[in-house]
Amino acid sequence: AAPIPSIGGIPLKYVSLVTLAVQNSMLTIIMHYSRVSIPSSRMYSAATAVLMNEVLKGSISLFIAFCRIEPSSSAEPSVLISLRPRVFMSKFRKLSRDIFSTDCWKLSIPAVLYVIQNNLQYVAASNLPAATFQVSYQMKILTTAAFSVVMLRKKLTSLQWVSLLALAIGVGIVQIQSGVAAHHGSSLELSTMNASKGFLAVVAACFTSGLAGVYFEMVLKNSQADLWVRNVQLSLFSLLPCLAHIVFSDSAAVSFGSSGWFSSLFSNFGLWAWATVLVQVLGGLVTAMVIKYSDNILKGFATSLSIVISFLASVALFDFRMTWPFIIGSAVVLNATWMYNQHPQRVRIVTGRDLKA
Ligand code: C5P
Repeated sequence: AAPIPSIGGIPLKYVSLVTLAVQNSMLTIIMHYSRVSIPSSRMYSAATAVLMNEVLKGSISLFIAFCRIEPSSSAEPSVLISLRPRVFMSKFRKLSRDIFSTDCWKLSIPAVLYVIQNNLQYVAASNLPAATFQVSYQMKILTTAAFSVVMLRKKLTSLQWVSLLALAIGVGIVQIQSGVAAHHGSSLELSTMNASKGFLAVVAACFTSGLAGVYFEMVLKNSQADLWVRNVQLSLFSLLPCLAHIVFSDSAAVSFGSSGWFSSLFSNFGLWAWATVLVQVLGGLVTAMVIKYSDNILKGFATSLSIVISFLASVALFDFRMTWPFIIGSAVVLNATWMYNQHPQRVRIVTGRDLKA
């Protein structure tokens, strides 16, 4: 059997799950702060942030994929050997063949879905208190389970179905207080936040998250292709929808006329915007590892752990007031997630034959 990948003796599965939990809470807070702490006249473009996320993530994945190719012409296991022009070119050719393989088109579907989702996240983070966004976003466990049942033919136990129902109820309870919480925000937050717009964005993002995640898992586990090659393919297919969003979004179209396109793309793109992008890049890379080494359902468990971290940070940083509906709703969500992960069923991955049937 292939050795289980690990870092310092700890299986990569657990390292990636814990990293994802911490990354998720950091992202919720940094993204929220980067959007609501600045007046809308000085707001950075979310579409540019999503594009930068894909460019950086794609470049890092390309670098890792390149390093992972064994130089075929030599037995010397040295990094330096890759810099020899002949070895470099042969690795480059092999990598290009892998990236532009006949089945690379499969990644176009999750790529488009993730671009939509990443843009919706900014809408949600701009219109909901950070902790409310975090809890509502747990509904993606529900959509992920539904798509896993349909696409991966996964069987759920009755306890898991009950916990999914509890999850939906918990999110509903938390929603009751989102309007109340907004009234405790600063006057700047009050004037810019729109709870129903934010909630609609979260619901839509939960659908794309479930569908894209399960689709990516299906593609990944049904072929021998390297994870990092798949990530490069995903980022490449994301570029077109990212650019389309920039070109066709109203605000960009207006500003393109008055100044150069490059400066309008990056206008107001300050420290917080870059911090948001970098945390998102980390999240993308870790998410891919979690999907590969465990699965989408365990990913949900990791992100629900991040609720607790975000709660405490929101109280400290944003003067977030905890109300009873919020505390009860969040406890129900956490409990539902824990219940869901009791005796998880083995995922039956559909094979190529199933897909043709
Ligand atoms: O909320 P959810 O877990 O669905 O978010 C997944 C995030 O991870 C998205 O921002 C998506 O762009 C990113 N991702 C990625 N590469 C993958 C899978 C997901 O960058 N292979």
